[in-house]
Amino acid sequence: MSAATHPAVRTGPFGQPFPVVYVDGRFSAEEDSRVSVHANAISYGTGTFEGIRATWNEELGELYLLEAEAHFQRLQQSARVLGLDLAPSPQDLVAASSELLRRNEVRVDTYLRPLYILEGEELPVRMHDVRPRLSIAATPFVGAYISLSGVRCMISSWRRAPDAVLPSRAKLCGSYVGPALAKSEAVASGYDEAIMLNVAGNVTEATTSNLFMRRGTEWLTPAVSDDILEGITRAQVKTLLAERTGSPVLERSVQRTELFVSDEILLCGTAALIVPVVEVSGRPVGDGKPGETTMALQNDLRSIARRADGRHFEWTTPVYGTAEGKA
Ligand SMILES: Cc1ncc(COP(=O)(O)O)c(C=O)c1O
Repeated sequence: MSAATHPAVRTGPFGQPFPVVYVDGRFSAEEDSRVSVHANAISYGTGTFEGIRATWNEELGELYLLEAEAHFQRLQQSARVLGLDLAPSPQDLVAASSELLRRNEVRVDTYLRPLYILEGEELPVRMHDVRPRLSIAATPFVGAYISLSGVRCMISSWRRAPDAVLPSRAKLCGSYVGPALAKSEAVASGYDEAIMLNVAGNVTEATTSNLFMRRGTEWLTPAVSDDILEGITRAQVKTLLAERTGSPVLERSVQRTELFVSDEILLCGTAALIVPVVEVSGRPVGDGKPGETTMALQNDLRSIARRADGRHFEWTTPVYGTAEGKA
């Protein structure tokens, strides 16, 4: 099914979700797989999730998952932080994701949503003795999540929770209320996106993407100990930047005013890809135009995601295994 022929492509980046979903090892119709209004996770956000990109390559007739195994490894780690056991291996879950995409006959850029939540109907607030459930659903991803050509950010009044309050390195359902408030505050203030500080006042990340900045010739990004999600795209950007510049990216605490004196800023994430920041809280970034390196990296990652670039085949997994598309 292509983007053009998909029956109900909605406005915005996402289309109508595909009909077949995976739940605890089985494939079924989405309407037969819904959770109860009494599910523990609905009230308390007790769960963890992932977002994985699949990119359609029309010339090769192949669909490629991007860093699927790394995402399922992070799902395992998030479950471990919650004290939950997630039995299937990351490799099993990559295979299940491919099967899901084949069963839905997906031939369009798509977003996968693995979700591991406490679906049991127990009302007490706890992580133990409530039945968990693992699902994977797929949705066409037919537009840009955020402008690919220049994002205007405000520094949010909402802070990232410290690790002692809510573990930021785990991708937890309940921990997205803060970023949702920050995003709405930014949009209501006339910006596209929010950059969040931690309670110590250091720069962390945007609402659903990590941040890199260039000062002179040096690229830096907030340290993993500064309450960020340890992004998979962040790791890719570190690799691509080191390959391009010949120098490693510096990971350290970044102060708020460094945003105002930087020469280039980019945001990166599975949904966002790699996008240039052109303004922060009313101040232009550099000369106020998208950074050259940022745009080159964006182009690199978009090509790598559909194997239109000879590099980093290890980041992608072919779904159909067509002759041309095989590794
Ligand atoms: C809070 C947050 N930071 C960063 C990212 C980027 O992470 P990734 O590159 O693994 O998608 C995401 C997206 O998942 C996110 O939700």
